Amino acid sequence: MSLRWMDGGESHGKGLTVIIDGIPAGLKINPERINTYLQKRQKGYGRGGRMSIEKDVVDIRGGIRRGETTGSPVVIFIENRDWINWKEKMDPFKVSGERLTKPRPGHADLPGYLKYNRRDLRDVLERSSARQTATRTAVGAIAREILEKLGVYVTGFVRQIGKIGFSGEVKSGKAIGEKIEKSIVRCPDEETTKLMCEEIERAKQEGDTLGGVIEVICENVVPGLGTYVQWDRRLDAHLAFSLMSIQAIKAVEIGSGIENASKRGSEVHDEIFYSRDKGYFRKTNRAGGIEGGTSNGENIVLRAYMKPIPTLRKRLHSVDVESKKEEFAFFERSDVCAVPSASVICEAAVSIELASFYLEKFGGDTMDELRENLYHYNEYLKRK
Ligand SMILES: Cc1cc2nc3c(=O)[nH]c(=O)nc-3n(C[C@H](O)[C@H](O)[C@H](O)COP(=O)(O)O)c2cc1C
Repeated sequence: MSLRWMDGGESHGKGLTVIIDGIPAGLKINPERINTYLQKRQKGYGRGGRMSIEKDVVDIRGGIRRGETTGSPVVIFIENRDWINWKEKMDPFKVSGERLTKPRPGHADLPGYLKYNRRDLRDVLERSSARQTATRTAVGAIAREILEKLGVYVTGFVRQIGKIGFSGEVKSGKAIGEKIEKSIVRCPDEETTKLMCEEIERAKQEGDTLGGVIEVICENVVPGLGTYVQWDRRLDAHLAFSLMSIQAIKAVEIGSGIENASKRGSEVHDEIFYSRDKGYFRKTNRAGGIEGGTSNGENIVLRAYMKPIPTLRKRLHSVDVESKKEEFAFFERSDVCAVPSASVICEAAVSIELASFYLEKFGGDTMDELRENLYHYNEYLKRK
């Protein structure tokens, strides 16, 4: 892909490092904008105590000079403030801390233990933890800067927490931006926000956890991103992969894909219209802006389904991997519901993927080149 990134670091280690390759030169970067985005990921009703310790900020270690990208890989470090409390346990060479041996159902503990042959489940959970999403959010913040320069807006918000859902129609993410920021669960509806908070509180009192549904809308996307000509170049497949790669996301829907499966074709497919002003357009968008693995010019609409958090106070049955005796899974400080945070992460993941497709189609080593290529494509579209 045109935009590649890879990160490393543990949840309670010194911090996380990410290297991003493929960012064009000449993109203005304001670290405060990235930090604001990181802080959005940390908020949300239902998060655990960890988030009151962490105040994520980016430490730029390469690829940016005089406030602009240089074309070199961008290197970012995000410190774990909590590390100070874990220094001994997380020391790369000392042997300290009690070993964890009772895997949590729904977490990576048991498969990670079997795969890597570790005696302490902490070796698994430190990397499988969603703390990793801090770096993804930072990459997403940079991808958003590229997209905004191209006139594209990506918005993620919460549709559902547990059984409490918001079913109102949302045509533009941009239009509900303020409402999302006002809501403590990142849901644009005030009344549903209240009900969602009550649902989270109930789960918390009962020692339980919740999942939910996130919606991401991408606006002003050109037609022609992705392609049907080769299976692994489809835009829908890449967007689904990027969302599914987020911890605890277990299903992805494009447009009204789930509902469409039980309807007739005549009720599903978005009929095509043409006007001089608008060019080709649709009156409905059940396809979610993608046909034949290619963007069709309508908004791209995606939904990600998140399972409930697997670390529970209400303990689940497990087996001690040392003694093989039946035990309860271990409990460690945890979130009750992380759907609001996940909405920020989903927005970041989609932004990264979309920016990558823009870079692939319009190329260029600099932002000016990229914008110019897009301009010519838009001129061509006007003639079609
Ligand atoms: C933003 C976010 C926060 C999360 N917080 C927790 C948590 O506090 N405790 C927990 O057990 N799982 C948490 N999870 C979920 C686990 O990371 C995830 O279930 C685990 O890594 C296993 O991966 P899988 O669910 O994709 O199979 C969180 C996920 C996200 C996206």
